[in-house]
Amino acid sequence: MTTVAIVYHSGYGHTAKVADSVAEGVRAAGAAANLLPIEGLTQDFNAIIDAVTAADAVIFGSPTYMGDVSAPFKAFADASSKAFFTGAWADKLAAGFTNSHSYSGDKLHALQSLSILAAQHGMNWINLGLAPPNVTAAERGEHTLNRVGSFIGLMTQSDNASADVAPPAGDHATARHLGERVAKAAIRWAKGAPEA
Ligand SMILES: Cc1cc2nc3c(=O)[nH]c(=O)nc-3n(C[C@H](O)[C@H](O)[C@H](O)COP(=O)(O)O)c2cc1C
Repeated sequence: MTTVAIVYHSGYGHTAKVADSVAEGVRAAGAAANLLPIEGLTQDFNAIIDAVTAADAVIFGSPTYMGDVSAPFKAFADASSKAFFTGAWADKLAAGFTNSHSYSGDKLHALQSLSILAAQHGMNWINLGLAPPNVTAAERGEHTLNRVGSFIGLMTQSDNASADVAPPAGDHATARHLGERVAKAAIRWAKGAPEA
């Protein structure tokens, strides 16, 4: 079965909830979702690295901390140099998501870090593929898809509230869209792969 790995860090649970919604989208498209949480800076990342190597596609997720990916996600990215040296992730599909408190909050910079990580591994980056909403500020609400209006990847925004309610429903629906989009692409990609 086509497998999509979802490697993410979440300090306070919001990005983890988004990762769950991304996984729902992956499953809805008929692929397997392998959720791989990063627990901290000093963990052994080998199991996650091997799981990404075994997957057809990977979706990276991190909260935006100080305008970039979180330190534990960066520790994982640095540890992934092991796969860089062998080309183990080359030609896989990749995508990314980030969650932060502010409407912008410099989330773009975090997504750029994720896409550069994918590029360094020779992976093929899949963008969000969802037009920003053409609505007035008054119409933009908690159910709006791509509420923050991102192209390169998924941005979600959570107020200082419990991860049970923030980010809001529209952001979770957008996360399911990303998971579905990447899984459908991975299924097509796997069909066209040359015989090993
Ligand atoms: C160390 C730290 C740095 C942060 N930096 C930013 C930031 O640059 N931009 C922003 O909008 N929010 C920032 N925040 C807020 C978080 O992005 C926000 O609380 C987010 O929901 C946390 O996700 P998590 O629960 O998955 O850790 C920061 C929070 C922390 C703890």
